[in-house]
Amino acid sequence: MADTKRQILVTNALPYANGPIHIGHMLGYIQADIWVRYQKMRGHDCHFVCADDAHGTPIMLKSQQLGITPEAMIAQMSDAHQADFAEFGVSFDHYHSTHSEENRELASLIYTRLRDNGHIQTRTIEQLFDPEREMFLPDRFVKGTCPDCGAEDQYGDNCDVCGATYGPTDLKNPVSAVSGATPVLRESEHYFFDLPAFGDMLKAWTRSGSLQDEMANKLNEWFEQGLQQWDISRDAPYFGFEIPDAPGKYFYVWLDAPIGYMSSFKAYCAKNGLNFDDYWQEDSKAEVYHFIGKDIIYFHSLFWPAMLKGAQFRQPTNVWAHGFITVNGTKMSKSKGTFIMARTYLDHLNPEYLRYYFAAKLTSRIDDLDLNLTDFAQRVNSDLVGKVVNIASRCAGFIAKKFDGKLSDTVAEPELLKQFTDAADSIAESFEKREFSRAMRDIMTLADRANEYIAIKEPWQLAKDETKQQEVQDVCSMGIHMFRALMIYLTPVVPELSKQAQEFLNDDFTWDSAKQVLTGHKISKFKALLQRVPMEKIEAMIEDSKEAMQAQQAPANPHMADDPISEEIEFNDFAKVDLRVAKIANAEHVEGADKLLKLTLDLGGETRQVFAGIKSAYNPEDLIGQHTVMVANLKPRKMRFGMSEGMVLAAGPGGKEIYIMNPHDGAEPGMRVS
Ligand code: MSP
Ligand code: ZN
Repeated sequence: MADTKRQILVTNALPYANGPIHIGHMLGYIQADIWVRYQKMRGHDCHFVCADDAHGTPIMLKSQQLGITPEAMIAQMSDAHQADFAEFGVSFDHYHSTHSEENRELASLIYTRLRDNGHIQTRTIEQLFDPEREMFLPDRFVKGTCPDCGAEDQYGDNCDVCGATYGPTDLKNPVSAVSGATPVLRESEHYFFDLPAFGDMLKAWTRSGSLQDEMANKLNEWFEQGLQQWDISRDAPYFGFEIPDAPGKYFYVWLDAPIGYMSSFKAYCAKNGLNFDDYWQEDSKAEVYHFIGKDIIYFHSLFWPAMLKGAQFRQPTNVWAHGFITVNGTKMSKSKGTFIMARTYLDHLNPEYLRYYFAAKLTSRIDDLDLNLTDFAQRVNSDLVGKVVNIASRCAGFIAKKFDGKLSDTVAEPELLKQFTDAADSIAESFEKREFSRAMRDIMTLADRANEYIAIKEPWQLAKDETKQQEVQDVCSMGIHMFRALMIYLTPVVPELSKQAQEFLNDDFTWDSAKQVLTGHKISKFKALLQRVPMEKIEAMIEDSKEAMQAQQAPANPHMADDPISEEIEFNDFAKVDLRVAKIANAEHVEGADKLLKLTLDLGGETRQVFAGIKSAYNPEDLIGQHTVMVANLKPRKMRFGMSEGMVLAAGPGGKEIYIMNPHDGAEPGMRVS
């Protein structure tokens, strides 16, 4: 190994213990794993730790819903998470829990140091309290009417209809999402971490030069807005650690979650005789990297470095954020079957397909990444199966049959092979810089070259000519050498495929072994290394995801809710709904209403006045004269602007994308819809 041995600690964000891993989560774990495997292949001391993030209100409530203790629930969840990660080839050196002794000790230590250094303050605040469940309600567990636009059923932090942000106490007619009770205001003393005191230190860190551009820009925005005191305490009942000097007060989950990185590593050190302080003391020379998703940058780039600084620990070398996964161009959706659980994927498809696809699309930037399932199949089939594995399958048979598995003693095309070995450095650089898509592109360009060579030489033709047997061996050996170099470079991405290739080649890959050539070497019998992606399996996976969604209840964390299908109803319930074709006789704006239009609907003789929340999507003039479908026997409702005597049917995620039902020509006002 040319360069000196580095000491590296890598983490990926800790998954919450209240739900299963889905393929969106997998992006970060796979990205970090590829980077770690690459570093290990280079011979560095690279350690990769993770843990379940086990504390907080959603976890407490979910375990209550399930009727088990939080400890039992997080234990089950941790097993399930670890099984998913293992099958996706995510090679953690240690997997821990934030609900652990190590974490309790480190959280106490960090808190105590922060307090003793004057970075903790207390202040009494007013918060919504659920009088029935006797608990304070986090923002997302309060629902009510938006103070800005009057939209109903909005969360306590922002309005999905008009986009306004506010506090839960600003909501009109608030209700507790936990019990349905009307919350009351109650005072409580809270503990705050003095983030603003770290402004200069954080700014210096931002300017250190190695942050992702988008990250540095975000940070600058936050600096301009001004840093705020951070509320780090929660009142009982709470599933977490009690604050050492404050009985009945608990650390907010986000305080002890990143400390979980340290405590997982600490447990790992104890098991393996490593020195924890070498990695975490203030002047540590070791490198520490956190891979995270873009939604949690604030916690990792402001709170976390500041907490570490204030408690006399080193700061991370870097925090690397990635974008979010969309599937087929849109947010993962339960009803479309694209909210795919890791387990559902594993039931149908080879995990290395996804590892390769992510690698082929990942850059060092924070861009979102679309998993287009058609593109996914084509890409894997054309690159891994059609290009790389194909090289071996075209050459291996001749070597086995005609030459007893032995490769030629000389290299037929040293110049060509040199292109493959020389590429090691630039591909290495791409891995190091997390430019995986560039690495994959370079590897596939070489694979094209190898296939061209074989296509021109046509060993299958040469084989028919008794005088050209040496050439057959030479050409096919060349093919195997080229295949081997590519498989070495692909090892961090598709470790299982690489393992099979190593068995076939009778070889043990290291990064530097790409520079050696297996002349005169004996290889094993070739077995098919990788199947093409079966399209029908993708379809089956989508179907399964739809079913899994229907079987599941609405998740405890409303953040995760994504239009689950409602409970089944009887046919008789449906039959009660009188759906009629209606002609929109008039449509007009409603003074003072941000999202409503007032419609006059003609049912063929009878007219109705209906207020519909479709203003964001339609101009009233465009609606007049159109046919639509309405619920004609809905009990009239008194609204702020007048009586609403029915409802029109519309679909869509909201905003400009709301579509009223539009029956075909020939539908006449008053007709029954069935
Ligand atoms: N528990 C916190 C992290 C604490 S770290 C000290 C958390 N957990 S999470 O389960 O919600 O998310 C785990 C990781 O998955 C995060 O990095 C998050 O950004 C990432 N992702 C969650 N959904 C994702 C996508 N749809 N796409 C890509 N990454 C996604 O946040
Ligand atoms: Zn609103």
